[in-house]
Formats: sequence, structure tokens, C-alpha cells
Amino acid sequence: MNTAIVIGATSGLGREVAVGLASQGWKVGIAGRRMERLDALQGRFGAEMMPCRQMDVTDASAAAVLDELIGETGAPDLLFYASGIGFQNPNLDEATEIDIVKTNCEGMVRIVDHFVNYVKSRPDVYRKGHRAHVAVITSVAGTAGLGAAPAYSATKKMQSTYISALTQLSHMEDIPVDFTDIRPGFVRTEILNPDKNYPFVLSQEKAGRLILAALRKRKRTFIFDWKFRMIVNFWTTIPSWIWERLSIVRN
Ligand SMILES: NC(=O)c1ccc[n+]([C@@H]2O[C@H](COP(=O)([O-])OP(=O)(O)OC[C@H]3O[C@@H](n4cnc5c(N)ncnc54)[C@H](OP(=O)(O)O)[C@@H]3O)[C@@H](O)[C@H]2O)c1
Repeated sequence: MNTAIVIGATSGLGREVAVGLASQGWKVGIAGRRMERLDALQGRFGAEMMPCRQMDVTDASAAAVLDELIGETGAPDLLFYASGIGFQNPNLDEATEIDIVKTNCEGMVRIVDHFVNYVKSRPDVYRKGHRAHVAVITSVAGTAGLGAAPAYSATKKMQSTYISALTQLSHMEDIPVDFTDIRPGFVRTEILNPDKNYPFVLSQEKAGRLILAALRKRKRTFIFDWKFRMIVNFWTTIPSWIWERLSIVRN
């Protein structure tokens, strides 16, 4: 039986992927802060197939909570990191900026590093023929700094760069783990302002299906959907001296 652990499974893309995997017969450990949502999701699949733990990735205890979850699922084939927060913050409220950095950067490093070290400690499980898989939801927002969302865009860039660094490290050190950087455009989840319209926004269900297909192929980087792939291709050609003078619409 395949097993996965989904961090940030209480809503949005993490929840969608957890449900998708569990529906395909995977054993899925789920984590997040909102316990009532974890309980409700567990109720659909049962405690045996979907163990859950309350976890705040910004807290140092999160690594031990991950160990507890692994104790229940067994050695996971996939670690899926979906936890993230994001706000526009043109007024530079400092606490907001720091919260975003702690969740998206500190939290991801804590969980992903802990899992990679776990993989290294289990040569009896992970080897050439059975490689672990780590997937992190970053964002197309990491393509360049966004004046209206400095911490969000910067933390998303950091996440992508970190995954690239770990991919190189895994080759250098022969660690049996593959990485996937999942970069969505807009998806209608709780992270978006419900009162605003966004261009080319996808439903949560469609996004979940696209992510599951990318995971099956163990894609290294997955930008979706195709409209956002085109936007990113164009975006990366804009010289920074032009980009930094553009006024991007606030949502
Ligand atoms: N939706 C989009 O348009 C979009 C686009 C690009 C990238 N993304 C990225 O996709 C990821 C998932 O977001 P989403 O769109 O699915 O939004 P969401 O529904 O708000 O999901 C965010 C998830 O992160 C968890 N989380 C937040 N802070 C946490 C913490 N301190 N500890 C543990 N878990 C925490 C939340 O669980 P609890 O609150 O219960 O802890 C929730 O499960 C984020 O990284 C986001 O930046 C989303």
C-alpha cells in the first residue's frame, strides 16, 4: 500500500490532494492546526487509513509530531507540504510579514529537512528502487518580487530555491529522494479574497487533479495551468529595471 503524509490538509490544495490519494487507496497521514477539520476529514476514511495530528509548522514541536504521524502511517512514499499563508501587505505590517516568513520558510525547512533526514536514516526502506518523494506547493508568485506582497513573493522564491538546493544535495550525497516544486497560478481556496475576481482562476477540484497527475509523473517542477506557464515564460523575460517600475494591481 502507498502511504503519504500531507502537511496543511485542513483546507484547500492540501485537503484536495489528501482526499485524492485516500480515494485511490493510499494511507494518508494528515496534519494542520484546525483539529476539527482534521477530525471531519478523518471521519470520511477512518483512523486506520487516515491518522491525523494537530501541527503548527512554526513550532519546534512540529518535527516530533511528524515522527508520531510516521509512526502511524509507516515510512511514507510521499511527503506533501501544502502549509502556507499569504497576504498582500503594501503597508508593511511587520508582524504579518514575519508570520508569512515563519510559516512558508521556517515551517517548510523544519518539515522537509526532518523528513529528508528520516529518509537518510532508513536505508532499509529507501534505496535506488524505492525513492522517497517530497512535493512542496510554492507559487508562480515567486517568479519575481511583488511590491504588494513582499514577504509572500519572497518566501515562494525561497521555497523554490530551497527545493532546487535539496535536489542538488540529494544527487551529491546519493540520497534516495525526488523533489517536486508545484507552482500554482490562482486557485479558488481560502487563501484568496472571496470578494475578489482573479484572472484564470482554477477550481480546487481541477487543481487537485492536475497536482495528482504531476505527482504520479514525479515532475521536478510543475507550473499550472498552461495559461500560467505562458505567463511565467513571458514574465521571466521582463528585465528587472522595467519590472520594478511597474504598478501591479492590488487584490
Ligand atoms: N490558492 C492559490 O491561488 C495559490 C496559488 C499559489 C500558491 N498557493 C499555495 O498553496 C498552498 C496551500 O494554500 P491553499 O491555496 O490551499 O490555501 P488554504 O486553503 O488557506 O490552505 C492553507 C493550508 O496551510 C495550513 N497552514 C497555515 N499555517 C499553518 C501552520 N502554522 N501550521 C500548519 N499548517 C498551516 C492551513 O491549515 P491550518 O490553518 O488548519 O493550520 C491550511 O491547511 C500555500 O502555500 C499557498 O501559498 C496557493
